[in-house]
Amino acid sequence: MSDPHLGPVPRARFSELMSKRLIGNLEWVRRKHIHNMDALAKIVADMRAQNPDHVMMTGDAVNLGLPDEFPQAAAWMRTLGDVKDVSFTPGNHDAYVKESLPHLQTHLGPWMQGDGGEAGVFPYVRVRHGVALIGVSSGLPTAPTLATGRMGKQQMAFFAKTLALTRARGLMRVVMIHHAPWRGGATPGRGLRDAGAFEKVIAAHGAELIVHGHNHRTSVKHLPGPAGTVPVVGVRSASAVPGTSRHLAGYHLYRIDRIGTTWMIEARARGLAEAGGEVIDLGKIEI
Ligand SMILES: [Fe+2]
Repeated sequence: MSDPHLGPVPRARFSELMSKRLIGNLEWVRRKHIHNMDALAKIVADMRAQNPDHVMMTGDAVNLGLPDEFPQAAAWMRTLGDVKDVSFTPGNHDAYVKESLPHLQTHLGPWMQGDGGEAGVFPYVRVRHGVALIGVSSGLPTAPTLATGRMGKQQMAFFAKTLALTRARGLMRVVMIHHAPWRGGATPGRGLRDAGAFEKVIAAHGAELIVHGHNHRTSVKHLPGPAGTVPVVGVRSASAVPGTSRHLAGYHLYRIDRIGTTWMIEARARGLAEAGGEVIDLGKIEI
């Protein structure tokens, strides 16, 4: 699941609203009608009822990156399951301004921690039932009106190594990232700036599945890997209730089976079919 954009946004001090947040605050006035916490509660309840082994939350938990938003986000994250069973990757709204970063790490750090226990290192790796969950950070503070992301050279190099090492261990590799990680994956000003480098890393090392949020739509894309294509699946926002049916709150449910040396992935979408409705099975996602 992704992009809950938790509300309401706590009142900000005037000094906190300077610069980018001032524009963002105006945007929130519009956004608060889109992201509905009752819809989100239905999504979370339905997800919990499926009894998943692990929950992947690919970012934009908050809106303006205000200090008071992060404890609220941490409290909500605890409703998704045990910390060891829930993984988080930051989005552009979580890393909204430079001042957001320490609060992000302090409050959401437990969900971004690898099995080694290191804090604030990306990508982090958590191994569960033979699956390596690889959490990438594309959250980068940007100029006003921009919603771009970037991994950076250092993280990209470590990402390549991580994919190689986890493959060598015979693990299934599931990559979690907020932004759609290919060139043209988002409208201008909203994309992953080093998507070209990401594509090259996948072409060289592959991955079994890549999941992302950010675009608030279910989408399926395939990136070339060294042994066939790699499915890249985008998910709806977990809280959206606007006018268009494609943009309603939802999440994806993955079932992973190992058959010999291959990993079988089955994906289904669940979510609202109409605003104010109940969460239903929206069908199989062809990956
Ligand atoms: Fe986003």
